[in-house]
Amino acid sequence: MGGISFQKFKYLLFIGFALTTFGAASSASAQMYKAGTDDGVPGEEMFQACGFCHGNQGQGRQRLDAPPIAGLQAWYVERQLNNFDNEIRGMHAEDLPGAQMIVINGILRNEATIKNVAAYIETLEPGGPPMMRGRGENAVPEPLERPFNWESEYAFLNPPAPGDPDDGAKIYNSMCTICHAANGIGNQTLGAPNLTVLAPWYMERQLEYFQDGIRGSDPQDVFGAQMLTFAKLLADDQAIADVVAYIDTL
Ligand code: HEC
Ligand code: HEC
Repeated sequence: MGGISFQKFKYLLFIGFALTTFGAASSASAQMYKAGTDDGVPGEEMFQACGFCHGNQGQGRQRLDAPPIAGLQAWYVERQLNNFDNEIRGMHAEDLPGAQMIVINGILRNEATIKNVAAYIETLEPGGPPMMRGRGENAVPEPLERPFNWESEYAFLNPPAPGDPDDGAKIYNSMCTICHAANGIGNQTLGAPNLTVLAPWYMERQLEYFQDGIRGSDPQDVFGAQMLTFAKLLADDQAIADVVAYIDTL
């Protein structure tokens, strides 16, 4: 991990601390050296390590910038896990959220485990309840504020006005359906993922990442490269907010 910024370093310390403290990764990491066979860790068991950030049902945890992943297609999840593993995604200095996945990928290790956890994620029902804080009657949805500092223009996205789904529909239908399909569920042959299971805040950031080449500009990232072209066609932050507001209705 050459060229790591001080901010990233501090952040990774925080995550390392959180994971050790809450023991989220301990059962999975205990498995990783046992992998004498080619079977890999079972998907559900492996997912416990993911749930700390992505939510226990894959519903996402915005405060940790970790998107909902429940219901994402297994082939797409596999590709992303390999992209993080091969440092094709998540390496840019501005990409603190992506850096988390680079770190966590260390516990995945073998191809079979990646396949198992990807297959499990596809079976999870999208739209699970938000993660809660407190117990019983006192439980409340956890706050969205980050427990750490992330100083970046990508940290808080502020479009000039809330997204307009009608304007977004025009953009989507002229530029996005060809790969992500009219109903947003994607197209495996073209490698385009299902967008309907994603969170608006996450999609907005990814579109900005693609626009600025923070994601998709590695020469090995053939699928991400397709998005670079189309994200650049989105005129401004308002266009991004609009198209995402439309996708959210699908
Ligand atoms: C330390 C927190 C953390 C842990 C633990 C974690 N993730 Fe992530 N993951 C993230 C963040 C943050 C992102 C968003 C990266 C971005 O915004 O580009 C992400 C992104 C992803 C993506 C890309 C989603 C997409 O739509 O492209 C996948 C797939 C994923 N994680 C799977 C996993 C799996 C499987 C595990 C468990 C083995 C796991 N993650 C564990 C924080 C985490
Ligand atoms: C030429 C085909 C193509 C077109 C057109 C296209 N996309 Fe994509 N899109 C892809 C592919 C392929 C990926 C997966 C990239 C990867 O594997 O990293 C993707 C990924 C994405 C992601 C990230 C998903 C995630 O889970 O992280 C978003 C958001 C997205 N596209 C939105 C759009 C929007 C909005 C449009 C229209 C403005 C659009 N795409 C047009 C092919 C396309």
